[in-house]
Order: sequence, then C-alpha cells, then structure tokens
Amino acid sequence: MARVVVVSGGGTGIGRAVARRFAADGDRVLLVGRREAVLREAAEALAADGDVCGEIRTLAADLTVPEEAQRVRDETGRRYGRVDVLVNNAGGNAELSSDEGKVPGGLAGVARQWRSNFDANVLTAVLLTEALGDLLQEPGRRVVLVSSIAAYRGSGTGSYAAAKAALHPFAYDMAGRLGPHGATVNAVAPGYIEQTDFFGGRMTEERRRMLIGQTVTGRVGTPADVAETVHWLASPGAQHVTGQIVQVNGGARYGN
Ligand SMILES: NC(=O)c1ccc[n+]([C@@H]2O[C@H](COP(=O)([O-])OP(=O)(O)OC[C@H]3O[C@@H](n4cnc5c(N)ncnc54)[C@H](OP(=O)(O)O)[C@@H]3O)[C@@H](O)[C@H]2O)c1
Repeated sequence: MARVVVVSGGGTGIGRAVARRFAADGDRVLLVGRREAVLREAAEALAADGDVCGEIRTLAADLTVPEEAQRVRDETGRRYGRVDVLVNNAGGNAELSSDEGKVPGGLAGVARQWRSNFDANVLTAVLLTEALGDLLQEPGRRVVLVSSIAAYRGSGTGSYAAAKAALHPFAYDMAGRLGPHGATVNAVAPGYIEQTDFFGGRMTEERRRMLIGQTVTGRVGTPADVAETVHWLASPGAQHVTGQIVQVNGGARYGN
C-alpha cells in the first residue's frame, strides 16, 4: 500500500531528493515549505520525472510558527487521514546569510543569529513532529530528522551547529515516546552536500576542495546519498533501528 510521506523543505535540495525517492516507490508525498512557487515547481518537475509514480502534493507553511504547523496537521488529517513517514528536513544556516562563520554586529546580532538558527533547525522539526504526534503513534510509523556534521564539529559561531546538535536529544526522547507504539525516530547527519540551495552560491572552489579532501571517498555528497539513507531508515528492515544518528559524510573526519 502507498505510504503517506510528509517532507518538510521538500521543494529543494535534500528534501526534494527524499520526496523523489519515496515517490519512486509509489508513495504519496506532501512537500512542505514556505515558498508556494518553489513547491509547485518541484511538484511539477517530480510528476514529470519518469521514475516517479506516486502522487506529489504541496502545502506552503512556515514551520517556525505554531499555528502554521497546526495547519499542516489539520490539512494532513483532512487530505490523508494518516502519516506513515515524517521527514523533518527543513532548515538552513543563518551564519551563511552574514559573512560565513562571523558573528554579526553587537549582542543583538548574536542573539538574532542564534535565535534564527534555533527557529529554522529546531523549532521547525519540533513543532511539526508534535503537531503530527497522534498520527505517528502506530506500528511502522517513521520519523527522520536531518542534522549535520556541524553538530559534531562546529559551524563557525556555533549557532547552526548547536541547533543541529539539539535535534539529537529530541530524536532520543521522541524515540522513547513513540517506541512503545512500534514507531521509530532517527536522524541523519550529512556532511557537505551539493546541488542544494544551502550555501546560496557562497561555496568557494578552495573550500569545496578542502571539504572533499576530508572525505575518504574523495567526492562530494549528493542529495540522493541522503535520500537513500532516509529511505532505508523508513523501511521495514530498519524497524529495530531507533534513537540513532546516522552520518552520511563519506567518512569526513571530525574537527578537520
Ligand atoms: N547542503 C548541505 O551541505 C547540508 C549538510 C548538512 C545538513 N544539511 C541540512 O539539510 C537540510 C536540507 O537543506 P539543503 O541542503 O537541501 O538546503 P536547501 O535547498 O536550502 O533546503 C532547505 C529547505 O528548507 C525549507 N525551509 C527552511 N526554513 C523553513 C521553514 N521555516 N518552514 C518550512 N520550510 C523551511 C526551505 O524552503 P523555503 O525557503 O521555501 O521555506 C528549503 O526547501 C537542512 O536542514 C540543512 O541544515 C545540509
């Protein structure tokens, strides 16, 4: 039977690849993000993809806002009546919108950057998971969070890294809450992944070479690399894997 899969940040990058992977199985995928036009374009491109046979639908919502997360819950209940897989992929790094790794001017700037990264990476996942919580209390349900290698080795000011690290105890606690119902909760922590909007054109060739040099595979990661891991964590074969952080980084060593 086709599963219902909710992918936050599903209009671009990793989320879009995750959506494609599930829709290739014939699953019914809901893409959630703030920009309606981006979601619509992604849904149309996926529907035109020869590998995709599942239904793709969209819902625009800012998941940092409790009422918006509640609206996703209400719409999901009305449209599908169930959620089999929740992929909390929405996020981004506010450090990149200032000069990479630099603290913005004054304490007010510091507070803004930390709050912004907390909102984008923690609240989006927490609010959507809590909003959909009752639908996830069933055997076979899956929640996957998207963390980052930054959670292990910092991100410049620490604000993005700390926000991603906060997802790990959330995954542990949610795994404890949903485990008795037969559901699992895990996180994937990607290293450097190309073909996304994450760096907003700020990646230099020198830094790119350095990041590739930190891997043992000698290549960049792709959204499909992450999507395959998310798909596996959501598979029946991974039913005894829960409360784990799975790193997808080509063996990039910490702290390099
Ligand atoms: N690329 C990498 O190297 C890398 C490495 C490690 C971890 N990650 C993580 O992977 C995840 C996906 O990022 P990506 O690399 O694919 O970059 P991306 O293309 O920029 O994707 C981020 C997505 O999140 C959505 N989003 C952001 N804030 C949101 C909000 N408040 N409400 C709803 N949706 C929101 C964005 O859509 P809207 O702007 O339309 O809302 C966008 O589709 C992120 O959590 C990121 O931190 C990325």
